[in-house]
Amino acid sequence: MKILVVGGGGREHAIIKQLKKNKNAEEIYALPGNGGIGKDAKCVNISAKDIEGIVNFAERVGIDYAVVAPDDPLALGAVDALNEKGIPCFGPCKAAAEIESSKVFAKNLMKKYGIPTASYEVFSDMDAALAFLEKSRFPAVIKADGLALGKGVTIAKDLEEAKSAVRALMQDKVFGESGSRVVIEEFLTGPEVSVLAFTDGTAVKPMVSSMDHKRAGDGDTGPNTGGMGTVAPNPYYTEEVAKRCIEEIFIPTVRAMNKENRKFKGCLYFGLMLTENGPKVIEYNCRFGDPETQVVLPLIKSDLLEIMLAVTEERLSETPVEFKGGSACCVVLASEGYPGKYKTGFPVSVEEDCKGEIFYAGVKEDGGKLITSGGRVLGVTAVADTLSAAVKKAYAAADKIHFENRYMRRDIGAAALAAKEKN
Ligand code: AMP
Ligand code: GLY
Repeated sequence: MKILVVGGGGREHAIIKQLKKNKNAEEIYALPGNGGIGKDAKCVNISAKDIEGIVNFAERVGIDYAVVAPDDPLALGAVDALNEKGIPCFGPCKAAAEIESSKVFAKNLMKKYGIPTASYEVFSDMDAALAFLEKSRFPAVIKADGLALGKGVTIAKDLEEAKSAVRALMQDKVFGESGSRVVIEEFLTGPEVSVLAFTDGTAVKPMVSSMDHKRAGDGDTGPNTGGMGTVAPNPYYTEEVAKRCIEEIFIPTVRAMNKENRKFKGCLYFGLMLTENGPKVIEYNCRFGDPETQVVLPLIKSDLLEIMLAVTEERLSETPVEFKGGSACCVVLASEGYPGKYKTGFPVSVEEDCKGEIFYAGVKEDGGKLITSGGRVLGVTAVADTLSAAVKKAYAAADKIHFENRYMRRDIGAAALAAKEKN
């Protein structure tokens, strides 16, 4: 089987490493991949947003199956375009991907089908949004409707901050058309949990839960990033919570998408907050999370390619999705300065006795060596019987990876360990 994976980050590297375990995966291509992924797949320099380029490549090479991992190509209709040429895919069609690419669509869906989420109002007129804020309670949450590299959300502590967030989106258009509509929503509190679930539009099979660490600095300080590290499972996601989430959120969401004629097939990501009034949806993503995937997939026991094909062929209910026991921790090594300005081009070296699994993101090949080329350079994951052992092992491995301006958070897993002690 010739398989194509669209994307080029740590998530895609983790997916490719799992797919490789299936002996039918004879050739794997990554578009565009990266220098580190190059060890596990053939990287082809076609952008993940170049839908025409992807389709042409797939036809030319005779791709049998495609996995579309990032949000942009999904929102741009990569799956629809590949399907049109008869190439089966893992990932939702464009209409279903809107569950992530439009927060207004997602919020309205939840309201219509009674899926628990923060209360909200939608505005396409800036003056109306500003007037609404005058009588709002704070903190309030301001969200751009469209994709904004995970940076379209502001938690405004007072009226001034809220107004400037609305102006930035609607007047200054800092995220372009993504901000032409905004959602203003109630501020919720409680532990956050990420749950990725396979669904073929009918069956829903959740994966092991995880916890992301989105802020750049220790103790959840500093700016939001794409994610600085993860642990799995998430100790807050008890069996009791899981049962509620499946009944009140996961199954109703998949059914709602069917009713709207937007059957969702692929990996549906539930960003949840466990509030005093039960679990609520903070966001949906229409894809695997990054860096959640780097802790979830190393714990999978079943064959990923088999599951993906079952999703595509709508026979997930009869396909096992099983996870090993134990825990995983992923520490992201970034270029100092990320998510702001940072320097790249530094050689990456890994000591021989580094005992973590490395998922490369912002690296490129340069004369047979890897050099840094992005903000998040790589993630290193360790698996162990206990969470504390996984965290220790991941940091021991991270300390054996070097590049000049290496930066990492030192407290990945600390919140999860503290939660475990409390329970
Ligand atoms: P999002 O991009 O939607 O994942 O939001 C980024 C982060 O903002 C989330 O991980 C939450 O920590 C926070 N957030 C989003 N919506 C809310 C809300 N309604 N209440 C409190 N925090 C929120
Ligand atoms: N880690 C959050 C995301 O993938 O959007």
